[in-house]
Amino acid sequence: MTSAARLRGIDRLLAGVDRTLRTLLAPPHARRARPGESLPEPDLSPDDRRHAAALMRVNHTGEVCAQALYQGQLLGARDPAVRALLARAADEEADHLAWTRQRIDALDGRTSRLDPLFYAGAFAMGAVSSLAGDRWNLGFLAETERQVEAHLDDHLARLPEADAPSRAVLEQMRADEADHAQHAKSGGGAELPRPVRAAMRAVSRVMTTTTYHV
Ligand SMILES: [Fe+2]
Ligand SMILES: [Fe+2]
Repeated sequence: MTSAARLRGIDRLLAGVDRTLRTLLAPPHARRARPGESLPEPDLSPDDRRHAAALMRVNHTGEVCAQALYQGQLLGARDPAVRALLARAADEEADHLAWTRQRIDALDGRTSRLDPLFYAGAFAMGAVSSLAGDRWNLGFLAETERQVEAHLDDHLARLPEADAPSRAVLEQMRADEADHAQHAKSGGGAELPRPVRAAMRAVSRVMTTTTYHV
């Protein structure tokens, strides 16, 4: 390895550590205004409020995982076009992280205590995927985003009818995730084998069912 390559590697590692700490510890900052920001806060029953806060906690952890996945995926990605695609999507995911956090706060909820654990797991999955090469890395991204899209449909159906501000956030997230999937696919992402897709669904089910409560 040349010293320039080594420096580049160290630089990426430090940027990754910086992003990790900011994801887990710093108040998230959105570049775009939160969708539904001007909508009045709904008057929810205590049960509906708790339920909405729990759903937004699950989505917030999902976005913590998205940050981790992208950082892991950037680790081994070489092609500048692939790196640019990953970096751009990661920035949009940072908006999702901030928006879901804002909704949790508005609903008097809390983030998940399991976030650091899921961050570590997702980072490892992203890193492994990046080592498999760009085609698989993008394929993994496309499949993740498709599964998140389906998950958001489910949450949109389960969210209390009156919680229009949370709904507006999830709808914009769904549109962004569809966009990420599309870019990853047209960027050359391979279709993942069925058992891998099933395993990914199983892992995300563990995340969604535990963080609803913890
Ligand atoms: Fe997202
Ligand atoms: Fe996404």
